[in-house]
Amino acid sequence: VRCQSTSTEEPKTRRNLFDNASNLLTNLLSGGNLGSMPIAEGAVSDLFGRPLFFSLYDWFLEHGSVYRLAFGPKSFVVVSDPIVARHILRENMYSYDKGVLAEILEPIMGKGLIPADLETWKQRRRVIAPGFHSLFLEAMVRTFIDCSEKTILKLEKLLESKSDGEGGTIQLDLEAEFSNLALDIIGLGVFNYSFGSVTKESPVIKAVYGTLFEAEHRSTFYIPYWKLPFARWIVPRQRKFHSDLKAINDCLDGLIRNAKETRQEDDVEKLQERDYSNLKDASLLRFLVDMRGADVDDRQLRDDLMTMLIAGHETTAAVLTWSVFLLAQNPSKMKKAQEEIDSVLGDGMITIECLKKLEYVRLIIAESLRLYPQPPLLIRRSLKPDLLPGGYNGDKDGYAIPAGTDIFISVYNLHRSPYFWDRPHEFEPERFLVPRKSEGIKGWAGFDPSRSPGALYPNEIIADFSFLPFGGGARKCVGDQFALMESTVALAMLLKKFDVELVGSPDSVELVTGATIHTKNGLWCNVRKRALH
Ligand code: HEM
Repeated sequence: VRCQSTSTEEPKTRRNLFDNASNLLTNLLSGGNLGSMPIAEGAVSDLFGRPLFFSLYDWFLEHGSVYRLAFGPKSFVVVSDPIVARHILRENMYSYDKGVLAEILEPIMGKGLIPADLETWKQRRRVIAPGFHSLFLEAMVRTFIDCSEKTILKLEKLLESKSDGEGGTIQLDLEAEFSNLALDIIGLGVFNYSFGSVTKESPVIKAVYGTLFEAEHRSTFYIPYWKLPFARWIVPRQRKFHSDLKAINDCLDGLIRNAKETRQEDDVEKLQERDYSNLKDASLLRFLVDMRGADVDDRQLRDDLMTMLIAGHETTAAVLTWSVFLLAQNPSKMKKAQEEIDSVLGDGMITIECLKKLEYVRLIIAESLRLYPQPPLLIRRSLKPDLLPGGYNGDKDGYAIPAGTDIFISVYNLHRSPYFWDRPHEFEPERFLVPRKSEGIKGWAGFDPSRSPGALYPNEIIADFSFLPFGGGARKCVGDQFALMESTVALAMLLKKFDVELVGSPDSVELVTGATIHTKNGLWCNVRKRALH
């Protein structure tokens, strides 16, 4: 039995790994100690009554930062501990794959990066990650602006036509608007395809939403009846799912065919030096197809595109939704953000330089991701026996786990842990500016913004894995900077033009969750044009 180490480890971690390896051997020879882990017994009502991550939080406070959740014969290890999360996601990442998540997503994303087995992932990550280079991101700012402008124009028209005459207010489900906006942006950014969903509804858009709906259904429905023979022909919703999938696949296949027919072979360096400001098609698909030696079969390329379409759509829409939800309850913070936006943008257009100056808006995005992480759980399965390190709150010796152990890393619990955050449930964007010492929390390096110099947004390095908005380690989100810049542009442009308040009370906004945390019935807001500023 061997603990794998990676080249990024610090010497201290290496020593720990050596100690862990001998502990692991001892533990395994004695039959492991998973049995001594605290157990939370789940009831069926925990699965259906409310989003599971709420119950996981209550059990975390009751049982500690590593516990076992048992549903009848099935059990999961629930981790709410940065040291253990760091071990699974970074230090020993090659001992884990995506387990249950891969099983759910494989029919939709195939061997795309998110569900991919480690071998496929290694090959594809190497090819896809360079596509998110800085010139691509800069070119995308134009796309973020154009798409946000369309949303704003739509709201302005609605205000003109439906205004109630009492100060010019409209009631609108902003979650739906953000979903359309994010879909348009991801379509253009990933494959230069205009969904045009802000202004119209095409069959492909309906198919995308249908597929997302099914993915969510599958992730919250615990009996995988769709695997039964003939289910795809007999069960109406499965029939619809397969016809939606076909519509998207046909669309993607057409785009891939077209990109290949117009291919200009190049190497990565040259591609990264192209004049992106003048490119008609700056999309990721163009990059992946043009790259020298990137001869990849169309099926893999389609899986990659489908993965990014789904990964980059609802997640970003959710960040915008929860940012507005939180700001609407905190008018003074909304005003502070608007003052920053006015002073940075003036009457001008947003640019990449502006993004660097919009510090408060960026912190709002980060704080929204802390309170509503997308997804709230990261899922892993151990491929071999492992020793989880002792957590910060008393599990000194750690736990030996056998191969095949299913793990939920609860990002929601980490982000709201009373051990790592003051007033963990409060919306305080300013909190990220204040360093926090580890104060005797063994094995945790504290919260220190200077640890990641040059980073525009707080990240997992600064927080030593107590903040994981985009995961961590080598399987961290490839689209993180894309998504953060997109959300900042869209939020800044919206707040520059409009004031927003919730239609009902915050408690009336019910949460549901699949891959992301979203509302049950929309985020209904009163939207009003801002007075001249
Ligand atoms: C992975 C979050 C936007 C593409 C991830 C992971 C998280 C995440 C937490 C890690 C999953 C895990 O470890 O199991 C988010 C959030 C986003 C966002 C919160 C928006 C605010 C995007 C965008 C794209 C994207 C815009 C693409 C354009 C991916 C891909 C992976 C991934 C391909 C898999 C990476 C790998 O395994 O190598 N994302 N994401 N995401 N994300 Fe994102």
